[in-house]
This record gives sequence, C-alpha cells and structure tokens, in this order.
Amino acid sequence: MKTESSQWNNNTAFLLAATGSAVGLGNIWGFPYKAGENGGGLFVLLYIFFVITLGLPVFMAEVFIGKKGKSNPVSSIESLAAKSNSSASWNIVGYGGILASLIIAGYYAVIAGFVLNYGFLTASGVEEGAAQALWTDQQSQFGDMTMWTVIFIVASCYVVANGIDAGIDKAMRFLLPMLFILVLAMVIYGAVAGDFTKGISYLFSWKSDDFSAATVQAAIGQAFFSLSIGMGTLMAFGSYMPSNQKVSKASGVVVTADTGVALLAGLAIFPLAFGLGFQPEGGSALVFETMTEAFARLGSVGQFVGPLFFFLLAVAAFSSMISILEPSVAFLTQKFSMTRMKATGIILIVCILLSLVSIAGHNVWKDLSIGALDNPFEAMKYFADDFLLLLVGTGMSIFVGWRLQKVVDSNTMGIENKAMMNLWIFILKWVSPIFLMVIWILGNLKVLFDYDLVAVILAV
Ligand code: TRP
Repeated sequence: MKTESSQWNNNTAFLLAATGSAVGLGNIWGFPYKAGENGGGLFVLLYIFFVITLGLPVFMAEVFIGKKGKSNPVSSIESLAAKSNSSASWNIVGYGGILASLIIAGYYAVIAGFVLNYGFLTASGVEEGAAQALWTDQQSQFGDMTMWTVIFIVASCYVVANGIDAGIDKAMRFLLPMLFILVLAMVIYGAVAGDFTKGISYLFSWKSDDFSAATVQAAIGQAFFSLSIGMGTLMAFGSYMPSNQKVSKASGVVVTADTGVALLAGLAIFPLAFGLGFQPEGGSALVFETMTEAFARLGSVGQFVGPLFFFLLAVAAFSSMISILEPSVAFLTQKFSMTRMKATGIILIVCILLSLVSIAGHNVWKDLSIGALDNPFEAMKYFADDFLLLLVGTGMSIFVGWRLQKVVDSNTMGIENKAMMNLWIFILKWVSPIFLMVIWILGNLKVLFDYDLVAVILAV
C-alpha cells in the first residue's frame, strides 16, 4: 500500500492552492454578511485579532502535520502518532476532518450553485424591486437548484480527478490571478459608484456596545472557516509541499492573502450597498438579495457589473471546492489503493447525495427542523462549521502542542528563533485549546439548548 503523497512539482503550488482554498465564499459571501450582522467595526477588529493569535498558529499546526506525515489527513496523523509513541486513536481527528469536509462540500456546492444561477439572472436583468421575490422563488426551485449544484460539483471533481499538478496546480494558476483582478475591479467600482467613506467607517469603526460572547464566537468561527482550518485541506496540501519549503513562511503568505481578500470584499460590497441606500444587515441574503437589488437599480450597468460580481464569487467558490474535495480523495486513494479517478467518482456521488439534502432544506424539507436548527441545510452548516471544525482544530492543536514536541523541528517549520518556537507551542498547548473549547461549549449550549451561560454568569 502506497500511503506517501507525491509532491507538487514547484514551490509556488502550495501557496496558490492554499490561498485558492482559503479565499472562497467565506470571504466574499460570509465575511461581509457576518460583519453586517455583528455591527461592523468591532467584528472586523476581533476577526483580525483572532486570525493572528489563534488562526495562524493552528493553521501552521495543520500544515505541519501534513508536511511531516507526508500523507492524507488520517495516515499523516497515524504515522506521527507512531513516531511520538502516541495512541493511534489520534487518527479520529483526521476522520473528523474528512467528515466535516464532506458535509461542507454538500452545502457549499448549493450556495455556489446559486452563485452560478445569479450570474445569468443578473446578466439578463432584474427589475427594480424584484430581488426579494426572486430570491424567495429561486430557493423554492428544487430542480433548478439541483442542476446548478451538480454542474458545480462535476466541474470541481474534474479538476481534482486530474491530480495535484495537472489538475489542482494548473487550475489555480489560472483562477487566482483572475480572482485578484476581479476583487480589485469590484473595489474600484464600489469606490467610484458607491459611498466609499461610509463603507470604510462602517467596516472599521468601533462600537463597544456590540461586544458580546456571540460576536467573539462569530469572529473566531469565521477566522477558522475562512482560513480553511479543521478539515484536512491544509494537511493534504501540506503533504505535497516540497521538502525545502518552510511551513511558517508559507502559512504567513496564505493567511495574509486570505485576510486581505476578506477586507477587500467588504470594501467592494459596503460602499456600493450604502451608496444605493441599502442597509447591510441582510444576513446571508446580503449577496443574493441586497446586491441583486443594487444591480437592478443600476439598470443596464448592473447587467454588466452584476454578472462580474457573481463570476468573482464563482471563481472563489470553485478554487475552494477543489480543496474541500482533496482530503477525502487523497484518503481513499492512499488508504484503499484506488486510482484517483475512482476515488473522485465515489466522492462525486457522496457529494451529490449530500447536496440533495441541503437543497431540500431550502424547499421540500424547509420546515423539517432538526433540534434547534431550522432545516437540514442549516443543520449541516452548523454541524460542520461550528461543531466539527472547532473540535478538529482543538484536536490538532493539542496533538501538535502536547504529543509532537519531539517531532517538531525548526527546519521544517522555518522558525529559527527559539522564543518564537516556544510561543507557538505555548499557544497550541494552552491558549487555542482553552479558547476554542470555551467558545465551543458556550456556542453549543446557546444554539442547541438555548442556554445562555454567559448571561447566567453575568446575572449572578
Ligand atoms: N475557506 C473557504 C472559504 O472561505 C472554504 C473552505 C475551503 C474551507 N476549504 C476549507 C473551510 C476547509 C473549512 C475547512 O470559503
């Protein structure tokens, strides 16, 4: 059984693939709407703070496991566990990541399907005042949604099936430059056509009464999701890293690019929304409702800018979807000695089945609540993003911080400074597990049991 990964054939492949993974719907769809929901400036500052203090260290831990373990998420952890006399059961962290990746794939593709559909809808022109009804209507179309979702899944699987060099690297070389140009074009358009100062002040002004446990939780969750932490993507991509590439430097580049694009997406959306008189608190409908209404108001200009915006979202979603599929495909290929083609075929079918559940969550099963969660779509999103990702993140943090101290080497990490190395280990050992678990417990109590522990403590 061949479990060792092959390597990228060049040194920029990891940077491109990991940036393509990180920059996705989370940045352009998720970040602005969560900033809007959580009062703007404070959320943005907390987000940046957590990206640096928790996101980057755990990101490096995940890449390290892949690079050192040289295999898929499960086998990498197993081989490092053997090297450090740890129990083989640590591999549950890898399995948890793969489970999360499949569930995310199942709902991510549905949102991406909407994005494709909206590219065409806005190109053909939406009447002023019609965006809200359009959004409601689109969500009720089981057949249409399935078609767009399946197109998106098949296209992503096609790239993954072609392998890491001829498939993933080749696609990223083309997608990423396009993505950056499109984001910049949207920011410039927003600055010219919208209210730039209002957008900036909304994004960066500090309103201390917005501070709450929920805002902190949202900021941490968003930081982890946006950086693609916690489902094996970074382990898989890290395992293909050429041996002379350093984990810390590569991670720093990707984390900076990801945060930069999230802020740019905010700068593209808010000035435009404010300039046209919209309030940005539209929740997850911000992009499909508010932005579509904004494009409708722009008339024929909107028929050009609208599709451009949705094309940007589609490119970002596509490069992320590829990375969401990679951990499970690598796992099947290596663990069961399958061809990449066959492994991708299996994952393709699993993804389509899961996506049908989350499509139905918008219409047929719209009112089928699961515990405290409104419908299967929300349930999948919650279970993967808020439940599993933080658990896997904590697991990796503890594994590297506590079990791999003898395996971690400054050469692989590219950290020569002893104090820096100690700080990194200290964060992994104490800061991130404690922080993540507190947030995880508070969040789950609140959402699943409607029990607000923070309020209870404050009331005492
Ligand atoms: N980070 C991507 C985004 O912002 C989504 C994503 C891709 C992801 N791979 C991931 C999220 C791995 C969590 C884990 O849209």
